[in-house]
Amino acid sequence: MKRSLHPRRGERRFGTAGAARFTAALLIAIALFACGDDDDDTAVDGLRFGNKGPIATEAGRGSFTFGVATAATQIEDENPDTDWYLWTAPEPQGLGNGVFVGEASRGFTKAIEDVELIRDLALDVYRFSVEWSRIEPQRDAVNEEGLAHYDRMIDALVAAGIAPMITVHHFSSPVWVDDPRVANCAGGPSDTNLCGWTHPQGAALIIEELAEHARLLAERYGDRVDDWTTLNEPVNYLLASYGVGFFPPGRSFMLSDFPTFIDAVRNYIRAHVAVYEAIKEADTVDADGDGVAAHVGFTLNTIEWLPSRDNAPSDRAEDIAAADRLTYAYHHLFVDSLIHGGFDADLDQEREESHPDWQGKIDWLGVQYYSRNGVTAEPAIIPVLNLMPCFGEFDLGSCVAPDDPTHWVPAMRYEYYAPGLYNVLVDFAQRWPELPMTVTESGLATENGRRRAEHVVRSLEQIHRAIEEGADVRGYYHWSLYDNFEWAEGYEPRFGLYRVDFTTYERSPTEGAEILAEIARDRIIRREVQETYGGLGPMSPEEDLEM
Ligand code: FCB
Repeated sequence: MKRSLHPRRGERRFGTAGAARFTAALLIAIALFACGDDDDDTAVDGLRFGNKGPIATEAGRGSFTFGVATAATQIEDENPDTDWYLWTAPEPQGLGNGVFVGEASRGFTKAIEDVELIRDLALDVYRFSVEWSRIEPQRDAVNEEGLAHYDRMIDALVAAGIAPMITVHHFSSPVWVDDPRVANCAGGPSDTNLCGWTHPQGAALIIEELAEHARLLAERYGDRVDDWTTLNEPVNYLLASYGVGFFPPGRSFMLSDFPTFIDAVRNYIRAHVAVYEAIKEADTVDADGDGVAAHVGFTLNTIEWLPSRDNAPSDRAEDIAAADRLTYAYHHLFVDSLIHGGFDADLDQEREESHPDWQGKIDWLGVQYYSRNGVTAEPAIIPVLNLMPCFGEFDLGSCVAPDDPTHWVPAMRYEYYAPGLYNVLVDFAQRWPELPMTVTESGLATENGRRRAEHVVRSLEQIHRAIEEGADVRGYYHWSLYDNFEWAEGYEPRFGLYRVDFTTYERSPTEGAEILAEIARDRIIRREVQETYGGLGPMSPEEDLEM
C-alpha cells in the first residue's frame, strides 16, 4: 500500500515580499478599474474556488460549495429520548458517564433564527442531522411534531438560499435501538430494546428500522433536499460505542470479543447500503435542477497516522507498517467494501467475503479531518491489528508532540496538522479516482477566534492544493456553526464559528466566522488573507483570548 508522505513544515508567511506582491496586485486591480474592467475579478490575487455545483456526478467536477455542519444531539434542547440523554443524565437513571447533554446549545428552540447565522456567513450548504428519536421516540410510533420541526427548518434554509444536507445517523439513537441500561440482551430483541449493532437478530431489525426512517425522511423532505449523508464517521462511532464503550450503549467488544466487534462493522455497512437504497427510491424530486434527485454518500473520519515510538516519530519499519494498517482500517476498509462489494473481516487487506449488493452504493464521500496522531507497533489495544494508537490522554508511548507546539489543541489533546488533510485527499483521489469528495467536517476546538480563522484558511489552502493535484474535492463544511456538546468531552471544547454563552444561549461571531464569510462570499482566499492567517507557520496561541 502506498504510504503518503509527510511534507515538512516550512514557514510560508510572506512578510515584506508578500506586501510587495500585494501592492503589485493592487496596482493591477487599479489599472483594470481605470480601463472600465471593474467587474473582472480575475485580477484579484489569491486562491480561487469553483462555483456551486452538484456534489456528485461528472457534471459537478470543478464546482465547490462552502458550508457548515452540526449534529442534532450536539445542539438540540428537548431531546430526552436519545441514548445520549439517558447516558449522560444525572441520577437517578444516569449512567454517570460524562457531562449531561441537557439543553445543548438550544438549537431546537432556536432552529429558525439560527438560519440567519448561516445566511450571514454567505454559505451554500447547511449539513445537519435529523434526530431519529424525535421522529420515532418509541419503535414504529412516528411523531408528526418532530417531522414538522425539520420541515420548518428546511423551508427556512431554502428561503435563505441555503441547500440543506441531511445526515441520517450521526452517533445518537433512540433508546429502543440499544438500551444502555441493559448489560446483556439475553432475552433477545423486543420493541423497547433491539439489542444493538452486534446482536444478530437485533441488528437486522435495526437496519430495517433505520432504512424505514430514512425512507420517511426522503419522502417528506426530498422535494427540498438532494444531498444526503447516510452515516457519520462509522469507525469512530463503532469504536466509541461498541469497541471501547466511551459512547452509549457503552459496550467494549474490541477488547473482549473482536469478532463480535467486526460484526458491528459489517452490520453498519449493511445499514449504509439499506439507507442508500431507501433514499434513492423515496427521494424522487430533483430539488436543485441538476438532473439528479438524490446524491447519497457517507462521511468518514480521517487522521494523519504518524509512525511513532516512545512519544517520538519513528522510522522503524514495523511502526510504519502499523500506521499503514491503521490507515487501512480507518480510511480504506469501509469505502473499499462499497466500491468492490466485499468485506475484509480479518483486516488483512484481502476481501474474503463477497457482497455484490453493496457494490457501487456510494455517490460521493464526505471526508472529515481534525488531527495527526501517533501509532506504534505493539500487540495491544487493537488485537488483530497489533498496534497501539495514541488518543490524547491514553498515552501509552505512542503520542507525539507536534513539530510546533502552537499546533497543539489542548481541549482535544491532539495536534492539528494542516498538510494531513491534503495527504488524505490525494491518497483517496488515487485510490478511488471516480469518487467525488467533499470535506464535510473540519474544525478546531479553541477559545481564540483568530486561531479558528487560521484553521479555516489553512484547511482551505490544503484543499486547494489537493484540487490542483487533480483531486475531485467539491466542498468544505466547517465544524461547527456554533459551540456545542462535544460528546464524551462535554462542553469544554469550543468548535463554533459563533461562540455560545451557555447561560443566555446568545451566539456571537468569532474572527473565524468573519474570515469564512469573506472567503465564501467571494469564493477566493485573497492573498492578504493568506498572509495574515494561512501557511504552516506558528498558529496564534490558545491563551491569546481575542474573540
Ligand atoms: C467529529 C464528529 C462531530 C464532532 C467533531 C468535533 O468526529 O463527527 O460530531 O464531534 O468530531
